[in-house]
Amino acid sequence: MSWINDPVFINSLYIISFAFFIYGLMNLTGPRTAVRGNWIAAVGMAIAVIATFLIDEMGHNWWLIIAGIVVGTIIGVPSAQKVKMTAMPQMVALFNGVGGGAVALIAWAEFRDTAGYAHEPRYVAIASLFAAIIGSISFWGSNIAFGKLQEILPSKPITLGKLQQPTNLLMAAAAVVLAVVIAVGGDSELLMIGLLVAAAVVGLMVVLPIGGADMPVVISMLNAMTGLSAAAMGLALDNTALIVAGMIVGASGSILTNLMAKAMNRSIPAIVAGGFGGGGTGGGTGGGTGGGTGGGEDRPVQSTSAADTAIQMAYASNVVVVPGYGMAVAQAQHVVKEMAELLEQKGINVAYAIHPVAGRMPGHMNVLLAEADVPYEQLKEMDEINSHFGQTDVSLVIGANDVTNPAAETNPDSPLYGMPILKVNQSRSVIVLKRSMSPGFAGIENELYHDPKTNMLFGDAKSSVGEIVEELKNL
Ligand code: TAP
Repeated sequence: MSWINDPVFINSLYIISFAFFIYGLMNLTGPRTAVRGNWIAAVGMAIAVIATFLIDEMGHNWWLIIAGIVVGTIIGVPSAQKVKMTAMPQMVALFNGVGGGAVALIAWAEFRDTAGYAHEPRYVAIASLFAAIIGSISFWGSNIAFGKLQEILPSKPITLGKLQQPTNLLMAAAAVVLAVVIAVGGDSELLMIGLLVAAAVVGLMVVLPIGGADMPVVISMLNAMTGLSAAAMGLALDNTALIVAGMIVGASGSILTNLMAKAMNRSIPAIVAGGFGGGGTGGGTGGGTGGGTGGGEDRPVQSTSAADTAIQMAYASNVVVVPGYGMAVAQAQHVVKEMAELLEQKGINVAYAIHPVAGRMPGHMNVLLAEADVPYEQLKEMDEINSHFGQTDVSLVIGANDVTNPAAETNPDSPLYGMPILKVNQSRSVIVLKRSMSPGFAGIENELYHDPKTNMLFGDAKSSVGEIVEELKNL
């Protein structure tokens, strides 16, 4: 064994890679430094992979590992390059699921390798079995989340009705019992397969009933679970890199889950309990389609034109732009910035109202607006902007729907009830840019559109804002 395979040297490389991970993560906290942060963390991961190759026992498996890396690269790089920003959450769900699946498979491979855990220290058995259960739940749950976000599966809750809770409890109990049997010496491979299948059913059944607005919280939670399962596997394999990287993912994922649940006024246990069939809190769990407040499509709405919108804004003192998922779909951020500059040249104050779950991923609106070089000071977080809507002349809602829905405050039966919203209905007038009366992600109607202060400007957001810009130039 040369110095290059010395565990001290390998662990030193790991420590260097952790410094890269942590520094990269720090850079991810702002849109301007995020790309750099990603690269720094990627360099850290490359160092960790090289260090792992140097471990003595890896010698016989080099070709297999390289083949795995090649396959992963061929699939991963083009899909990451091609993915649309709006489809990023499902890609995160899918890649996260693959991580959980890999951990579950490693636990299974270790079980085969050592013919059960009877001859392993107890802590190795416990950590491996924990990793297998959580990894399997995370893999299957993430795939369901992917299917729902990609609209391969209906986003509305899917449940087994009364059988939901007993099935989930039975499967969770089965996974734990099988884990105990294996930990005390059971070495039949069927036990391990049964454990993985029971955990898989739990993963499927817990996420299938969760729909609509709770999905971002669920994805983040599954992400944290994958991290924890990787850390547990690292403990079992005595691999420092897996422990530290897994804990970083687990800890940051847990913090993100908590922040998102708070932002949406959801309780994490209630979301999971809803998926378990136990029902949620008053905040509700999940969306559903067509819930609505009744008869919306037939009820009249007032529509307006780009010319009238431009005039209305040109005579305003304060305009608040409320961006949402539709702005991302239309890629309207650059023309929105152009519009805001024209308004500012006319002496009008322009601010952007940022809801924490607007769009389809945390920070989605911040990233888009930063891409269009919108000054960061103009982006106002929900709590700050909500106290300004009373003095706002025009709120220009660009492809945002759920995050402005007053039903979240007024209708206890709404799946959105309890989620804090941008209180655009308090402004003097509201103009909503969208293509039709279709609902948003949660699948429910928006009472805002029937408010006498609201006018609808129907059309693709980029084209509509483009027309407003032309009108503003002529004023
Ligand atoms: P949504 O409620 O999804 O509404 C988006 C609106 O944009 C739709 O009503 C749609 O109406 C309109 N739209 C789509 N394409 C458009 C285009 N080309 N031009 C103009 N309008 C267009 O969006 P939101 O208000 O941003 O709320 C986000 C929702 O997604 C929340 O329910 C949230 O819980 C959920 N979610 C969030 C995340 C994160 S972490 N941000 C992740 C997953 C899910 P038309 O079809 O009529 O145009």
